[in-house]
Amino acid sequence: MPLALLLWDGAHNDLTANPIQEITQRTGKTALVLLALTLAVTPVNRVLGVRQVVPLRRPLGLYAFFYLCLHLLTFTVLDYWLDLELIAQAIAEKPYVLVGVAAFTVLVPLAITSTKNWMRRLGRRWRVLHRLVYVAAALGVTHYYLVVKADVREPLLYGAIIAGLLVLRFPPLRRVVARIRVRRLTRPARLPQPSRGS
Ligand code: HEM
Repeated sequence: MPLALLLWDGAHNDLTANPIQEITQRTGKTALVLLALTLAVTPVNRVLGVRQVVPLRRPLGLYAFFYLCLHLLTFTVLDYWLDLELIAQAIAEKPYVLVGVAAFTVLVPLAITSTKNWMRRLGRRWRVLHRLVYVAAALGVTHYYLVVKADVREPLLYGAIIAGLLVLRFPPLRRVVARIRVRRLTRPARLPQPSRGS
């Protein structure tokens, strides 16, 4: 949908006075939202017991990567016309670009190894490798924070959400949450008390 809306707005000349910035911002924001949703899958499954979300993790992660590819293409092709010297200069001089590139670089091996075949091939190492998604998310939020400069409320909000999702994975907290959930599930249902008159 975000891509369809972007194409629709593009076709109707409705991408603000600065279309390249608009496309960069919308693809970046969409990628960050999808990355946060990818990180939310495990806590939603473990804490709330909603198993149905688990199969969504891979498509969410891959779509996040897809929008980041559009984000990077917009920057390198539409904004910098594939001028490698200028791009290298931007990476060297603009910390937010450097951090963005670092986040993207971390996600590349995760996208490549997201297939069932790689999961089988890597075995336990696959889980260890894919923990890097936390690093990519933290770098993505830092990149966003460095981009906006003035009003940092939104990057901070994303940062808080992603930090919260990470904290929910810490084993001690996970055990507490699991215990609460089990207690709730095993608590005998309260039967309606017969009213005194009946
Ligand atoms: C591949 C390297 C990357 C480059 C070259 C890059 C470049 C940029 C640029 C130039 C902007 C500023 C647009 C503007 O306001 O003028 C931007 C904004 C943004 N980028 Fe990136 N970025 C990269 C990676 C990432 C990654 C990995 C994420 C998220 C995980 C991300 C998320 C965002 C967000 C959320 C914004 C701000 C959108 C807004 O202001 O509404 N970017 N990026």
